[in-house]
Amino acid sequence: MKTIEQINTQKEYIKKVKNENQNKNLHYSILTMGCRLNENDSEKLCGMLEQMGYTKTENFEDADICVFNTCCVRENAEDKLFGKLGELKKIKEKKGTIIAIGGCMMQEAHMVEKINKSYPYVDIIFGTHTLHKLPEDLYKVLENRKKVRDILDIDGEVYENLPIKRTSNIQANVTIMYGCNNFCSYCIVPYVRGRERSRHPKDIIEEITKLAQEGYKEVTLLGQNVNSYLRSEKWKEKGQDWNGINSFATLLRAINKIDGIERIRFVSPHPKDFTDDVIEAIRDCNKICKLIHLPLQSGSTNVLKLMNRKYTKEQYLELVQKMKKQIPNVVFTTDIIVGFAGETESDFEDTLDVVKKVKFEQVFMFIYSKRVGTPGAKMENQVPEEIKHKRFNKLKELVESQIEENNKKYIGTIQKVLVEGKSKNNPKMLTGRTESNKVVIFEGKEELKDKIIDIQIVSEHMWYLRGKVISC
Ligand code: 5AD
Ligand code: SF4
Repeated sequence: MKTIEQINTQKEYIKKVKNENQNKNLHYSILTMGCRLNENDSEKLCGMLEQMGYTKTENFEDADICVFNTCCVRENAEDKLFGKLGELKKIKEKKGTIIAIGGCMMQEAHMVEKINKSYPYVDIIFGTHTLHKLPEDLYKVLENRKKVRDILDIDGEVYENLPIKRTSNIQANVTIMYGCNNFCSYCIVPYVRGRERSRHPKDIIEEITKLAQEGYKEVTLLGQNVNSYLRSEKWKEKGQDWNGINSFATLLRAINKIDGIERIRFVSPHPKDFTDDVIEAIRDCNKICKLIHLPLQSGSTNVLKLMNRKYTKEQYLELVQKMKKQIPNVVFTTDIIVGFAGETESDFEDTLDVVKKVKFEQVFMFIYSKRVGTPGAKMENQVPEEIKHKRFNKLKELVESQIEENNKKYIGTIQKVLVEGKSKNNPKMLTGRTESNKVVIFEGKEELKDKIIDIQIVSEHMWYLRGKVISC
């Protein structure tokens, strides 16, 4: 069946479930773990659930269906899921709550087995390639109260036009490609998300044009490896294009031309695929934020080799230098894993050295977590937990001192801030973000929400800056 027909079939199921749910005032709750791609998937799950007649609630106790969109990149998500499932057992006994679990963790056979055995009251299990079938799976459960296990091991298709309920009305996530071909040796993603598949440029441009018409100002392009967009499809080699788009760089240039969109971000690129045409596109396109997330993972060439990252410490630093030279005011954020198998004290010092040299705006730090089925899990020389934690704390100290130092540079500067609304911690204040993604808190009228305004930074704190409005 073609993907369009499959989506039409699901739309029929949406109508059927909606019919069943009429006048019942039903609620759903959703717990999303992991990355921005999962958040975007959850926005689609919410879109389908709302069309089927459910209203969102933040409380699991009040929900008629609880959905978990899981992640398996690190171990802590598993503990969180099992804790929640334990809590839900009693609630389900009382009110018959439907429990659905989907996402990356459900692509792991041992996890599905564990749920079937230890949590048999889970109604629906779906994987990363069957998310669009939630309406059909749910209908089957409502009809005959039988468990549904709907997981595909082969690579999924790219499905367009699923309903979507976005979490923000100014910033939108737009997935441009699915899957990953890189097989970094610590990472489970290629096993649970399959090989790279790019969305057609036409679908992406149409989606972003529509977002702009709806008033969205910022888009974040998402993919496990965004700078290999259309590479698996070999568009460039085949001389194929759509309105001049045949690569990540040409996609960026096309999005930059869409009226109404004022900021473009993307996560995550891979340093090995950061080609000159992408650097030039970032330099030339005024809407692309000059904050680049460039995952380092380790600063040691030895560890990078063990990780199968395909670049050295020197190549990473050269790339940063090249970008700093070509793109005025460019700054960086990164991901770092501490304590990967084989990491010695001197390897770790190399990581600290890169952090000192690049002076990242933000570092997302992770303690290495062994993932079943990845080469990293079978490697010898695993680093003891205690040493991992020691190194993590040392890195954290360095990063925090650099952020503190860096934040001071903002004082007195004028920043363009996209206003998100009232601050959660202090509703008398507004909050927004600079182009470099720093949170800024300031006093101002609510009508500034959704606008990009000039703010002068007056003081700095570890996780936010204080500012005052100077124009609107
Ligand atoms: N252990 C710790 N961190 C990991 N990441 C991916 N796999 C693992 C793992 N097994 C981190 C990487 C990646 C980010 C999304 O998660 O830094 O860039
Ligand atoms: Fe995982 Fe590496 Fe692919 Fe990123 S590029 S998803 S870290 S395998």
